Amino acid sequence: MSFPLDRPRRLRTTPAMRRLAAETRLHPADFILPLFVKETITEPAPITSMPGVLQHTLASVRKAAAEAVAEGLGGIMLFAVPAEKDARGTTGTDPDGILQRTLAEVRDEVGDRIVVMSDLCLDEFTDHGHCGVIREDGTVDNDATLERYAEMAVRQAAAGAHMVGPSGMMDGQVAVIRRALDESGFQDTAILAYSAKYASAFFGPFREAVESSLEGDRRTYQQDPANARESLREVRLDIEEGADMVMVKPALSYLDIVRQVADISEVPVAAYQVSGEYAMVEAAAAAGWLDRERTILETLTSVRRAGATSVLTYWAVEAARML
Ligand code: PBG
Repeated sequence: MSFPLDRPRRLRTTPAMRRLAAETRLHPADFILPLFVKETITEPAPITSMPGVLQHTLASVRKAAAEAVAEGLGGIMLFAVPAEKDARGTTGTDPDGILQRTLAEVRDEVGDRIVVMSDLCLDEFTDHGHCGVIREDGTVDNDATLERYAEMAVRQAAAGAHMVGPSGMMDGQVAVIRRALDESGFQDTAILAYSAKYASAFFGPFREAVESSLEGDRRTYQQDPANARESLREVRLDIEEGADMVMVKPALSYLDIVRQVADISEVPVAAYQVSGEYAMVEAAAAAGWLDRERTILETLTSVRRAGATSVLTYWAVEAARML
């Protein structure tokens, strides 16, 4: 009978040994909390497909932002649901639009104690639900959309965003936004580019959260889940165009992309654990099929292990408390 010379199990014998040997650790500052604000409500409203996540009022988002600061989170990412939507997403660039008002309230509450980010995309503001301006034939007009994004960026920066998050996957969006910000005196407003964003079924519950009326899909601008190489191209272009951070989205089904991007990126890499990833775990846990807390921490650890510096997660506050 021969005995193994190599015994990897030695490093797993006790919690202390495992803690010593752990290569990846989670910290509250790794987490970015997405928050939704709806213009027309007076009380926070639950989102059915995302149990535990709320559509906030301006008053309740202040409290949620203060809580994020108290937990030591790295950032908050703001999304808005406006009262009015139209073809051009006009309220997205209105200085009094709901996202701009939310930014001002939140900055008033938290100052510089946490990084305040805003989603820079038209889909929350358009009646057709696309991330850009559409032509008569229904196709998305890339360059006309860029003009809208440039204006949105300046409005969001003026309202108080530390960092804007262009998520529309239009070609050239980071360059246009960087130039617009610089020309308006917002040289210090940073850009978190959603660089590698896939046309994913995992965004399903988010559409309820922002009440998107999209018919059809986003496959002419978001990436094909079959592809990895084009993510590296998108990341390279975004860094060249001035991205301060890049993002991969969704996270869990795209950990190979997170790893490849982390290996080439000169800037910090974020990954977005999206609404469908959240809903999947919550539903299975509610049925008693998964240990909820263990699953949450395991997914977050996996995203960090794959190479992400930050994770956008709806569990940010709760996960910070678990640590
Ligand atoms: C676009 C945007 C989306 C999400 C974040 N920003 C939706 C989409 O592109 O279809 C999805 C986030 C999530 O599913 O949690 N503004």
